[in-house]
Amino acid sequence: MPKPKSMPKPMPMPKQTPKPVTYPDRARLIAEARAVLKNAYAPYSKFKVGAALLTAKGDLFTGCNVENASYGLSNCAERTAIFSAVAARGPRVEIQAIAVVNGQNVPCSPCGACRQVIWEFGQRAVVFFLSAEGWREMPIAELLPEGFRLK
Ligand code: THU
Repeated sequence: MPKPKSMPKPMPMPKQTPKPVTYPDRARLIAEARAVLKNAYAPYSKFKVGAALLTAKGDLFTGCNVENASYGLSNCAERTAIFSAVAARGPRVEIQAIAVVNGQNVPCSPCGACRQVIWEFGQRAVVFFLSAEGWREMPIAELLPEGFRLK
């Protein structure tokens, strides 16, 4: 076998360690994510999703999924929350933590597109989601080891 020109680098570890999220903040994030479920617009999948994020400055924003008859235009709850935060606080907003819940209480971690968008606004962010083993907390840098960046 020909020798590769360069070897792949080892798996990168998160560059910055996430800031711990207090228990009251975790509880609030999950409660707010649950509360916004009622606004989800999911007539096609019937799968309602709610998300709540905490910014590094301590502000909380929520979002729900918003589907469309042209299915591919549907927006996930996580991205709705992030876009609301950017619209309200500007492009330098930093996500400290984001929680996601769904109306069926089944395991649901953020999709690949949302991982990339979370990463864009908080490489130290922590994600709370329901896994097959129950609630999990994972740094976005673990959920998305090599986020795409333009510079
Ligand atoms: N969805 C979210 O809003 N967030 C997720 O983390 C997973 C999927 C939405 C997209 C679509 O409206 C529905 O769930 C079914 O895929």
